[in-house]
Parts: sequence; C-alpha cells; structure tokens
Amino acid sequence: MEFNVKSGNPEKQRSACVVVGVFESRKLSAMGEQLDQVSEGYLSNLLRRGDMEGKLGQVLLLHNVPNTLSDRVLLIGCGKERDFGDKSYTKVIAKAITTLNDTGSMEAVCFLSELNVKGRDTRWKVRHAVEAAQDTLYAFDEFKSKTDSTRRPLRRLTFNVTTRKELTIGEKAIEEGLSIAKGAHKARDLANLPPNIANPTYLAEEAKTFAVNNEGVDCEVLDESELEEMGMGAFCSVARGSDTPAKLIILKYNGGSAEQKPVVLVGKGITFDSGGISLKPGERMDEMKYDMGGAAAVFGAFVAAVEMKLPINLIMTIAAAENMPSGKASRPGDIVTSLSGQTIEILNTDAEGRLVLCDTLTYVERYEPEIVIDVATLTGACIIALGNQASGLMSNHNPLAHDLLNAGELCGDRVWRLPIWDEYQEQLESNFADMANIGGKGAGTITAGCFLSRFTKKYHWAHLDIAGTAWQSGKAKGATGRPVPLLSQYLINRCES
Ligand code: BES
Ligand code: MN
Ligand code: ZN
Repeated sequence: MEFNVKSGNPEKQRSACVVVGVFESRKLSAMGEQLDQVSEGYLSNLLRRGDMEGKLGQVLLLHNVPNTLSDRVLLIGCGKERDFGDKSYTKVIAKAITTLNDTGSMEAVCFLSELNVKGRDTRWKVRHAVEAAQDTLYAFDEFKSKTDSTRRPLRRLTFNVTTRKELTIGEKAIEEGLSIAKGAHKARDLANLPPNIANPTYLAEEAKTFAVNNEGVDCEVLDESELEEMGMGAFCSVARGSDTPAKLIILKYNGGSAEQKPVVLVGKGITFDSGGISLKPGERMDEMKYDMGGAAAVFGAFVAAVEMKLPINLIMTIAAAENMPSGKASRPGDIVTSLSGQTIEILNTDAEGRLVLCDTLTYVERYEPEIVIDVATLTGACIIALGNQASGLMSNHNPLAHDLLNAGELCGDRVWRLPIWDEYQEQLESNFADMANIGGKGAGTITAGCFLSRFTKKYHWAHLDIAGTAWQSGKAKGATGRPVPLLSQYLINRCES
C-alpha cells in the first residue's frame, strides 16, 4: 500500500472515497461539517433521519453526495468525542481500511487523521494510522492453495493534515509507520511459519539474506559445535535433544559513531517447545511454534531500525534451538555448566528458554553494551499475571525500565514492571548446583527474570516476557508482531533524546 499526506478541503477531493468521522450522537466532525455545508445539509439530513448514530466502528457509505468531487463519502462512527483516545483512533482507522478494501475504493482521502486524539500530535496520528492500516491488511496465506483475494483492493491512502506546515511531519511519520509496520510484519511472518520450516537454520538464513540486502548490516552465525567448544553448556543441553541443529545468530548494524556503545537485543528462538523430557500436554501444543516470538520480535525491531536508518549501533542476537525429547535430551536432575561458569541443575526441561538465554546473555558481554534487552516467550505464568494486554518487564536499571514503560505508553504496545528483588532469588536455590532452573510454585515470571539477572550483572539490562502478547489464540490465532512497536519506539526515543 502507498501512503501520502496532503492538506486540503474534503469537498475538493477528486477521489474514489473521502473518509470523515461522526461522533456520538449524530455529531459530524469538523471536516464532516464542511462537507455538510457544501452539500446543503445532505449529511446532517441523513443523520437526523437516523441512518447513523456515530457509535464507535459504525460505517455508512454514501454515493454521489451533492457538490463534492469524490465518488463516495465514507462516514465512520467515532463514539463519544470526549472518550476519543488512542484505542478508538486505531479502531476507527482499522474500520475505515477494511470498509474501503471491501467496497471497491482503490484509493481514498482520509480526514480521520485530523481528529483530535487526546495528547497526540500529527506525527503520532499519521504514524499510527499507517501502522493500523498495514496491520489490518496483514494476511498469512502462504500455505493456502486458494486465497480469497479482494477484487478491487485499497492501493493508495492519503491522510489529510490541517496545515501545509504539517506536511513534512506527516511524510516523516509515514516513513516511520511503514518501517515499524515492516518490522512487525517480518516478526509475524517468522512466528506464523510452521516449525518444520522456521527452524534455527531457517532463521539463520533469513538473517544472512537480510545482511546481504542491506548495506551496513553484518551477519554472523555460530553453529552448535562452536557453542559447545565455547562452553555454552546450558544452551547446548537444550539443543542436544533435537536432531535440528541449534544456531546463535547475530546481526550488527552500525548506524552510530564508532565510539558509541551498542544496544543489544537478545531473542529467545525456541522454534518449537515440546517441553523436552518434561513433555507438555498435547492440547494446543502447536502454539509452541511461537516460542521463537522473542527472536521474531528482535529481528523485526532490527529491520525497523535499519529501515529508519537510526543513528545507533544495534546488535541483534537470536538463541535458536528446538526443545525436543529424545535419548540425547536433558533429564530432570542433570547439572550443566553455563558459559559464565555458574552451574545449573535442570529440574524441569520445559524451563528451556532461560537456559539458551543465559549463555547468550553472557556471550554479549563481549560487545560492551550500553543496554541489553532480552525478549522471550518465557513463562506461562506471565499470561496469568498480565494477560494479553501487557508484556512483563523486569530490569536491573531503573532509568531503562522507565524508558521502556514510557515507550510503551507512547506507541500503545505496553509493558508492566515486575520486581526482581533478592527475596525471590532464594526460590532458585539448589542442593546440588549453583542454582536450579525453576523457582517453584509462586511468582513464576519473576523467578525466571531472577534467573536471567544472575547472568546480566555486567551491564544495564531489561527482560521482556512476551508469552501473553506475542500471539493470540482462538479464531484469529496468530502472531501479533508485538513488541516490535515498543522496541522501535524505544530506539527512536533514544535517538531523539
Ligand atoms: N515457552 C514456555 C512458556 C509459555 C507457555 C509461553 C505458554 C507461552 C504460552 C516456556 O518454555 C515454559 O515452558 N515455561 C514453563 C516454565 C516452568 C517449567 C517453570 C511454564 O511456563 O510452564
Ligand atoms: Mn518450555
Ligand atoms: Zn519455551
């Protein structure tokens, strides 16, 4: 899809469709008013007659509105004006997109970007409209032999801004929105792919291809024997149970100056999590293909950052492996030595994410990072604690935690902080090794965070548990692309402060 911005009057648009908002009850937005005046009350008449109330998400498609130059006018219900915020705005845009796409307008001029959204400026509104549009049109149908394609799909959407001065802001916002959407799209594609295809080798090939196609990006892939040699006993204990070889995948982007320390993103890339010998129950086990959602997200954020040419040095690493039961798999009771030298008693082979992550977190010390953020579908407990609304955030550095909380509020891809106090560390005590890989019944998300914190003492670090946010179950089953918007926003903010 192509996006533009312009600044003009609704009645002057020579377009297949002009989109304007209607608030509850039957209250035209400013641009709707304008259309109403030139059409000599055509719209207000319809509203008075009861054709539309203005409830959030309502639609009314009109043809040949008097004295206008466009083929159609699409009225979108925006709900109560004083409740109109981030969520309603996104919903209204999404509704406009699906309606336009289904009703034959191949291009349209959208005036919804002029609506007042509490505390949001033009940059925010245009960027989020682009993201919402791209999100709405996303489909993963690579493996369907027949797809129901739209006959006259929406191809070009123009957002109107109030003043000509805002055109440059709008154009920049479109670029930003497209970059983030591209990253989120990449994350969704990778996570939606079936586990027999998206295995560690596939992820490594994707990273290599990305480096070849993008200047300033370098890729490095370490294979299992190299990880073994290096002493990544925790990582390799997970990988060994599978016939599919593990990979440590690294992408580097030098957008900043040579002396600038890098931001490092670490993704959990378990391409399928059967639980290993501590086998998971069968129900919904297919969803464990998304256990590389952290890897998909850091890849997506990396793509977005490179697209935006952000002036930072960014390193993305993916700990990719499959967690399978076999004669070579770890047993509960096994003790392994991590790259850091600390020993771990594996009491549950299903707590594998922290095992591949801990060695990767030690590995990235070599980059002398400014910041390290790991992203992982780490615990089912996080879904119990925070549901699908917020990702779990844990950090050893308050300013970093605040930056992530703020970035989340700004982009709508939110996180909520959980404590990783020393009191919780006790739950990880083992009679036989330096620590156990599980922390018992209570606070499962926190004890997983505490486990990781033992490997991140040398730098400022945050951990995002995305078990609840990376995908959704049910009818719309699939990857969400979260937290690509959050990570992108965080990186943008860093560059602007
Ligand atoms: N990948 C899972 C976490 C998960 C579960 C994500 C459900 C999304 C949905 C992780 O590897 C795991 O199995 N964690 C265990 C940890 C437990 C054994 C301490 C869990 O959450 O049950
Ligand atoms: Mn597991
Ligand atoms: Zn897992």
